Amino acid sequence: MAFLGVGDALDGQVNPDLQVNPGDIVEIILENGDNIVHNLAIPDFSVQSPDVQQQDTQTTVKFKVDQEGVFAYFCAIAGHRAAGMEGKLIVGNPPEIVGIQAQDLSRSPDDLPGPLNRSVPENVRLDLEAVEVEGRLADGAAYTFWTYGGKVPGPFLRIRVGDTVEVHLKNPATNTMMHSVDFHAVTGPGGGAVFTQSKPGEETMFTFKALNPGLFVYHCATPMIPHHISNGMYGLILVEPEAGLPVVEREFYVMQGEIYTQEPFGTKGRLTFSEEKLLNERPEYFIFNGSVGALTDLHPLTAQVGETVRIYYGVGGPNFTSAFHVIGEIFDRVFDQASLTAPPLTDVQTTLVPPGGATVVEFKVDVPGRYILVDHALSRLQRGLAGFLIVEGPDQPEIFNGTPTDGSGH
Ligand code: CU
Ligand code: CU
Repeated sequence: MAFLGVGDALDGQVNPDLQVNPGDIVEIILENGDNIVHNLAIPDFSVQSPDVQQQDTQTTVKFKVDQEGVFAYFCAIAGHRAAGMEGKLIVGNPPEIVGIQAQDLSRSPDDLPGPLNRSVPENVRLDLEAVEVEGRLADGAAYTFWTYGGKVPGPFLRIRVGDTVEVHLKNPATNTMMHSVDFHAVTGPGGGAVFTQSKPGEETMFTFKALNPGLFVYHCATPMIPHHISNGMYGLILVEPEAGLPVVEREFYVMQGEIYTQEPFGTKGRLTFSEEKLLNERPEYFIFNGSVGALTDLHPLTAQVGETVRIYYGVGGPNFTSAFHVIGEIFDRVFDQASLTAPPLTDVQTTLVPPGGATVVEFKVDVPGRYILVDHALSRLQRGLAGFLIVEGPDQPEIFNGTPTDGSGH
């Protein structure tokens, strides 16, 4: 069952898009081409035609459209809409059709502080600000993120083992939600979350001593916690060991997250959060550093042939374990589970990173070209999860040589 367009541009189209402009008076003639009763309803404009009972009978509806948007028209006879009698009335150029150009909130992977280079513990102050802000989720799609500092992930924090840390969390009065922070680097109840539940307009603080070196996730721990995390409230804190880490040419900061929208993946416009999908663990989007394309088109990782790359990699999640892999490279060293005191694994293809967990990987880039960061659960590539590492320098035919073929294999 369907509506068929009659005449002009609509002729023969099944359930045609009806494009009109705001302020238009719209007239739709419904002709029954069937021997079953049908009608036409557009509830957003209080339109409900009489039933057309027999073949070749007609009815007409006439109404004014005053509001831009995409609206459903359908047959209101029981079961007919579900059977296919549904189309779109498009008024003007609504964001669902033309898309929204929202600001980029994604964190650049080279946005992290360098090594501390100090041999003694200090008193350190860390300031975090909760920022609720609309940003670009994908091309043409906007989403209201909850963030630390206005970007996703939150700032990369770097301290040294033995430091005494004073954490301040500010929740501006312009926000709508309570927020907090739980550092996995903290020894103490809630990782700090019990001292930092902050209403809009409040600032809270606590102190902790960094007892264990490593790379740790921090995240908001205000109920419903997975809602706050999925909306973007996560980051990494590196607690450097006493001797620091060996110097490498490139350090990067990458985090994986999930976005649960009511609208299907790829929808344009202003997308909205789905609690049902969150609780069912059915994300529409998987993202590196806050948005689709953050680490491909917008902020790819770059290096030169011969350099050693270190990636600080964490999973905000909140739900999915990442099988972290770089297509075309082998990790020379993996600090498994982000332990910096155990000896690293060597020569690893793919490494598991659980939600609320992290890893540190290092590898020398020997051959120029484009390498792709993925979660090797590759269906997630189709839902936005990819990053590029672009390596420049002279070809190395003794390591890698051949003629490119069509298509991008793996
Ligand atoms: Cu929060
Ligand atoms: Cu946690």
